[in-house]
Amino acid sequence: MIISTLSQLRESKISSINEPSKRKVLMANPEYFDVLYSINPHMLDESGNLNKVDKKMAKSQWKELQDLYKKLGFETHTLPASSEFPDLVFTANQSLPFWNNGPCVLMSHMQSEFRRGEVALLEKWFKEHHYKIHHLPAGSSFLEGNGDVISHPGKNLFWGGCGPRTRKEVYSEVERVSGKSIILLPLIHELFYHLDTCFSILNETTVVYLPEAFAPETVAMIKEMFPVAIETDLNECKNFFTGNCHSPDGKNVIYQKGAKNLEAKLSSAGFELHSIETSEFMKSGGSVFCMKMMTY
Ligand code: ARG
Repeated sequence: MIISTLSQLRESKISSINEPSKRKVLMANPEYFDVLYSINPHMLDESGNLNKVDKKMAKSQWKELQDLYKKLGFETHTLPASSEFPDLVFTANQSLPFWNNGPCVLMSHMQSEFRRGEVALLEKWFKEHHYKIHHLPAGSSFLEGNGDVISHPGKNLFWGGCGPRTRKEVYSEVERVSGKSIILLPLIHELFYHLDTCFSILNETTVVYLPEAFAPETVAMIKEMFPVAIETDLNECKNFFTGNCHSPDGKNVIYQKGAKNLEAKLSSAGFELHSIETSEFMKSGGSVFCMKMMTY
């Protein structure tokens, strides 16, 4: 079922599930990471981010993030870098892994031609790791993987962003292939072009979200489903990518350094805090959540 209103949500029967948790963190070697074209408002020339990446700093920030996942007990995997794809490091976008009697993945059809070729590189990794691979039908509209489609822990449910990247039309196929219910979230603020820039599910009961990125009815659906709906503010979400924080296990949260308001809220909600620097990746419009893919 694809749910777009609060009344549909109240009538829906979303089942609980018991799936294995994702313990592998897939990242891509940042050797060729750069901002060479502009496909989101953060990368624009006017904001001064084109060709401004400090490569050395980017590599050390990337490594700090990977080391943190290791320290938290996750198994990390690194895709080889490719000189053709400066955005490959954002491994949240090329695929949508899910569990359906075994590990499955639906490969993305990315909106930007600059990035489309990245999908095959991820597909290779999933093949080597014995995933059942699904593709969208030819001529399908765009899907940008876990950047827009985020699963709800413990429920047979995806939250599905739709806007400049992933299109609403693609969700009938996502639903068919995954067997999950989908709650649609139209993105209404141009800075927040992927769902994961303004919405991060920390665990079954807790989400961090930016109210300004959604219409009032969408906010009502978020509040309906999460007893603890932590609001982040526009300023922090814009400058510290707070909507892109990540909890790999429901208790630890990794987020961009300097996000003081979010930090206070997470700490009073009882989370373990891990702030890291992702300044070079924010120039490209991404932070923690986009720099990895959680896999089985
Ligand atoms: N420069 C990349 C793009 O515009 C950043 C992607 C960030 N990923 C994300 N899931 N928000 O595609």
